[in-house]
Amino acid sequence: MGIEIDLLKNYPKTKRDVSERGLQKTDEDRNIARKFGKEFFDGSRKHGYGGFNYNPKYWQPVIPDFINHFKLTNNCSLLDVGCAKGFMLYDISLIIPEIKLCGIDISSYAIKNCLEEIRPSLQVADAKSLPFDDNSFDVVISINTVHNLELNDCAIALKEIERVSNGKSFITVDAYRNNEEKEAMFSWNLTGKTIMHVDEWKTFFKDIGYSGDYYWFIP
Ligand SMILES: C[S@@+](CC[C@H](N)C(=O)[O-])C[C@H]1O[C@@H](n2cnc3c(N)ncnc32)[C@H](O)[C@@H]1O
Repeated sequence: MGIEIDLLKNYPKTKRDVSERGLQKTDEDRNIARKFGKEFFDGSRKHGYGGFNYNPKYWQPVIPDFINHFKLTNNCSLLDVGCAKGFMLYDISLIIPEIKLCGIDISSYAIKNCLEEIRPSLQVADAKSLPFDDNSFDVVISINTVHNLELNDCAIALKEIERVSNGKSFITVDAYRNNEEKEAMFSWNLTGKTIMHVDEWKTFFKDIGYSGDYYWFIP
């Protein structure tokens, strides 16, 4: 089993009014968001990010923790599953210019509108069927992505991460530790389909054979 570790502890915290977003949300909003198209990234706030733009303040403080934890160097390879517009990969490339980077995302909109500098490393693909050979990457990272799949598909995606990684990986997933957090999560949630108590996630990882590291997204 991997370890529970908050590698995103330096990601800037945003002030969110969880209950307000909860009130505004409808099933139609969720359906629109789950298409992961323009509306999700660059449309109205009630359908997603409300403008998904590069800003170094987000990932740059986080990258040193990835580097230290995984001992990343120019000789390594790294895959980002659910890379969106490639912002995290771009910030990794600024610090480790020769590292071999790949990113996949189900959203053709995000890949089409990615940062130009990272475009050659990105492609449209589904986390359930990663277009890479076994053990292709030293490290696989997937931030807030696999919980967007139903439980069975989430298991398939985690097994795919396990298959293409050479033993090291890190994921974050929607989770809660108590009723208060559970309520906030379901009020906040727009795209997640598999949201569980942290202990249920740990049992799930064990049952399906996911051996990488993990942490929680808790609003
Ligand atoms: C909440 S966003 C996170 C994006 C990015 N990892 C980050 O942390 O900024 C979830 C991402 O997962 C992608 N996604 C959803 N389902 C997917 C799937 N089955 N395969 C690959 N990517 C998927 C979405 O298009 C979106 O870019």
